[in-house]
Amino acid sequence: GVTYRHTNLYWIGVTFRHTNWDRMSRTDIHLALDRMLRSGTLTGIGCHVSTYILDRMPRSGTLTVWAAVHCSKIHDLQIRIRSGGHDYEGLSYISKTPFVVIDLRNLRSISIDTEKKTAWIQAGATIGEVYYRIAEKSKKLAFVAGVCPTVGVGGHFTGGGYGMMSRKFGTAADNIIDAKLIDANGRILDRKSMGEDLFWAIRGGGGTSFGLVISWKVKLLDIPEKVTMFKVPRTLKQNVTQLVYKWQHIADKVDDNLLLRLFLRSSKSPFKGGQRIVHALFKTMFVGGVNELLHEMQNRFPELGLVKEDCIEMSWIESILFFANFPRGTSLDVLLNWNTTNQGYYFKGKSDYVQQPISINGLEGIWKLFNQVDENSAELQFSPYGGKLSNISESETPFPHRAGNIFMIHYSVTWGEIKNSQKNIAWIQKLYEYMGKYVSKSPRAAYFNYRDLDLGVNNINGNTSYEQARIWGVKYFKNNFDRLVKIKTKFDPTNFFRNEQSIPPLSSEV
Ligand code: FDA
Repeated sequence: GVTYRHTNLYWIGVTFRHTNWDRMSRTDIHLALDRMLRSGTLTGIGCHVSTYILDRMPRSGTLTVWAAVHCSKIHDLQIRIRSGGHDYEGLSYISKTPFVVIDLRNLRSISIDTEKKTAWIQAGATIGEVYYRIAEKSKKLAFVAGVCPTVGVGGHFTGGGYGMMSRKFGTAADNIIDAKLIDANGRILDRKSMGEDLFWAIRGGGGTSFGLVISWKVKLLDIPEKVTMFKVPRTLKQNVTQLVYKWQHIADKVDDNLLLRLFLRSSKSPFKGGQRIVHALFKTMFVGGVNELLHEMQNRFPELGLVKEDCIEMSWIESILFFANFPRGTSLDVLLNWNTTNQGYYFKGKSDYVQQPISINGLEGIWKLFNQVDENSAELQFSPYGGKLSNISESETPFPHRAGNIFMIHYSVTWGEIKNSQKNIAWIQKLYEYMGKYVSKSPRAAYFNYRDLDLGVNNINGNTSYEQARIWGVKYFKNNFDRLVKIKTKFDPTNFFRNEQSIPPLSSEV
């Protein structure tokens, strides 16, 4: 056992380094875990406790995880499942009640079948590794998921998964065809044995509520050998306001192969006594060649003034590095670097959906609010919808953000010192309040993968009533929330899998 300190929480870490680990039976593993949990150290009241289980042997990985779930249930310990650890509110590794962390970082094998165009991916893998392993096998196959390579597939796929090809292929969850899951009864299920309801729930309804995903089977997607990229910056002097206004009228309607993403920031001008300048960066991917892209841009968005010199043709896997901001020529091996060490800054994120273009006045109001936060610390990402995202019905998966949405807004603010937390969080909340009149209503929708505890939380022990959870639940899942509650009630009536924003069963306590 190892004890280490994490901020102000004491964690007790238990590491298995059994030489015969792969030969231990399920009962042996259970007994070993049980002994540790009974030893007293792991039940200390008032301290935060985690069992940090490292699977040294991939063969026994599933068994280890199974044993950890099983023992936690017996000892009534809340579990936290950590895949890539990118949860915006840290729910995969912190809790206000004693808990066990099941860290899946060593459960990360990926097997690709280029003939059948499918892949089995263990839940501890990152999306960067998935991209790398696909590209290793084929130049004409790809997968659709997020931009940051260190995001884990465990959390990302359970919440949706939006990426630079989502207008063409939908979300990551839309492309899942099977899964292996440990349910609240300790059963290891696949799609057939879990049934279509539970399989539906884990593809967008969030991970923690329904079980622990061991692995996903996804369908791989056909892509051309070359795709085209551009990153074009514009400032207020170059008509940003008009450009953003026009962008809102075309972003969801352009060719499905085209995803025109928009990043907005502000910084101080070196002139005019340091006045703020708003910058827009149009970061774009086109699943096709440069000439077709120029033709589409000329037709739909000539105001941007895109020219051939702005565009770069490259392979899909190179585009992953391009969007992750690695310099050109960086080795693809960086995608295998999953070690997410502390980046050294604090962060708060929120999200919204826009269904009617924001007026010029509305945009100017955002620019004014940029003046009230530290330079370069805030960013708005406008991510277009439409295309395949809109062709799928709202109830096909729990991810309900389909037809009718022009784009999603991701608000973020970062800061370096803890003493500035209150100021920055207050700023982003003020911006969110301001945006209320321009975004979706009844419910004011939000993206589950951009988790935001400001939207509402369960009681401290994770149990909560349907009514209380509905407050945040319909924002993430709209009408799918009720079906998620029914599925939860059927598969986990005692609410074993829970956290601050897990789906409650109907019988849950208030
Ligand atoms: P983490 O391990 O923290 O898990 C997140 C949640 O899922 C937790 O509640 C956890 O318990 C649960 N969970 C994890 N593994 C599970 C498993 N195997 N079974 C059941 N439950 C499990 N999103 C997006 O759509 N597009 C993008 O481009 C990006 N980019 C991005 C960049 C950066 C820097 C961050 C921090 C986040 C993003 N995201 C994103 C958001 C991301 O999709 C979201 O945070 C995911 O939940 C992260 O999944 P991880 O496995 O990394 O997180």
